[in-house]
Amino acid sequence: MDDLKTKQLKEIRDEVLTLSTSPLYAFRKEHGYFPVIGQGNHDASIMFVGEAPGKNEAMSGKPFCGAAGKILDELLASIKVERDSVYITNIVKDRPPQNRDPLPEEIAAYAPFLTRQIAVIQPSIIATLGRFSMTYLMEQYGLQDELQPISALHGHVFELSSSQNPHYLIPLYHPAAAIYNRSLINILKKDMITLAHIYASLPQEH
Ligand code: URA
Repeated sequence: MDDLKTKQLKEIRDEVLTLSTSPLYAFRKEHGYFPVIGQGNHDASIMFVGEAPGKNEAMSGKPFCGAAGKILDELLASIKVERDSVYITNIVKDRPPQNRDPLPEEIAAYAPFLTRQIAVIQPSIIATLGRFSMTYLMEQYGLQDELQPISALHGHVFELSSSQNPHYLIPLYHPAAAIYNRSLINILKKDMITLAHIYASLPQEH
């Protein structure tokens, strides 16, 4: 593992740990929660970006370890990709009360850390999970004119113009949506096949 990447990711973790200016910091401290920075391979070709930690995640400090995580594991298994080979993070690093949608000021507080994680890991493909990371990252990559509801964009492959990584952005439904609406799992699995095709088309690493 690249020591520089590990060092840079630790710096990000340390800054988030002490981010007392965050609107969610007091809630974290009050409940003894952990921030959820991210988990996975620092050289991952695929990065998944969710919304915000739920209770299980805030209690363990690990992303997607609860019910939504089980669905994500099922999706990864469906394309035979190991969870350890990808990197999984969220746009918002602390749990919002009652798992409510993140507020714009919360996204603004944490998104710069996501941008830095992407710059360190340099994934070839970013798969957004849900509309918040989709909207933020499409705006970041100059795709604001292409924004539509996630029902219209899921599974669409956006090729990014940048000469650096990431090369592709693929919006996916949030896995939690499939907990209550099992028919969405088939849509998610279909979109994962699209992701797997893009992944298979990447030049082999040496
Ligand atoms: N939902 C998310 O968006 N992220 C997690 O880590 C868990 C649930």
